[in-house]
Amino acid sequence: MKVTVLGLGQMGAAIAVALVKAGYQTTVWNRSPGKTVEGADHAKTAAEAIAKSPVVIAAVSDHQTARDISGSAKVLINLATGTPEQAKETADWAAERGIDYLDGAMLAVPSNIATPEAHFLYSGSKAVFEDNREMLDLLATSVYLGEDPAVAALWDSALLSVGYATFFGFFHALALLETANTRPSEFVPVARQSLQGLFGFLGELAGEIEKGDYRGGASPVDMNRAVLGSLVGTSLSRGVNAETLTPIRALLDRRSADGHGSDSLSSVIEVLRTGAGRRVQEG
Ligand SMILES: NC(=O)c1ccc[n+]([C@@H]2O[C@H](COP(=O)([O-])OP(=O)(O)OC[C@H]3O[C@@H](n4cnc5c(N)ncnc54)[C@H](OP(=O)(O)O)[C@@H]3O)[C@@H](O)[C@H]2O)c1
Repeated sequence: MKVTVLGLGQMGAAIAVALVKAGYQTTVWNRSPGKTVEGADHAKTAAEAIAKSPVVIAAVSDHQTARDISGSAKVLINLATGTPEQAKETADWAAERGIDYLDGAMLAVPSNIATPEAHFLYSGSKAVFEDNREMLDLLATSVYLGEDPAVAALWDSALLSVGYATFFGFFHALALLETANTRPSEFVPVARQSLQGLFGFLGELAGEIEKGDYRGGASPVDMNRAVLGSLVGTSLSRGVNAETLTPIRALLDRRSADGHGSDSLSSVIEVLRTGAGRRVQEG
């Protein structure tokens, strides 16, 4: 059970530590000297590290760096964050060199590597995923999304979109609550509970979108326009910036103006799909 880890930054080091702990004969390399992992074999160059193992995990900052250092690999699992286009470029680059390539996206932080909270998404070579499944499963909960190497990065982008929307909503909520001297930590348990309820609604919204039938939804566009309108009003009257909310309201306004005010909230995807949301910004 030999594996090479290129990059001993926050994530690479956590990965290498987990591999050593699990009994893998782990070779590591880092550009800058001084970063070490107890129990690992430290190579002087990336090429030397690659030659030591049949499988290479690249945990460096970006795709270009991963390509620059991994050219002699036979099997490469690249965990650098990147766009779907960069994942495709790296997969093409690997194919030209006869490297079996698996692209990965880490939904994790260094401290939860090798715990059930860490999720790694993969796409690209199914054989690389299956052959190394046991090792990948010890690093995180592994999810394989298919042969298209761009898909893991696309899912990563999709999840980042959910994450940023949630975090900015949270920050806006805290700014509002500060106006009544509520401390952020007081709000957290209530927010958690409320989010659980809201996330339970995702399946219903997804079902409407899959059917393309937005009639009779529990949460119509016009009702949400009214709620957002009063939320913007409350924010402004308390001196809180409402810029996180106004683009959402504008999208709902467009949907309503197009005659879909009584459709479900989920029907807003029609505006996003067509790129018509851009008109909101331009206008
Ligand atoms: N940290 C997180 O919570 C987190 C979560 C999910 C995904 N990620 C992704 O994981 C990847 C690694 O993140 P990280 O947090 O481990 O970053 P980091 O701590 O900044 O480490 C970056 C690593 O890349 C190496 N590197 C950068 N440029 C290089 C170059 N030109 N040549 C060779 N090596 C180079 C660094 O080497 P030196 O030590 O020599 O600088 C270091 O080993 C990123 O793509 C990041 O977006 C991170």
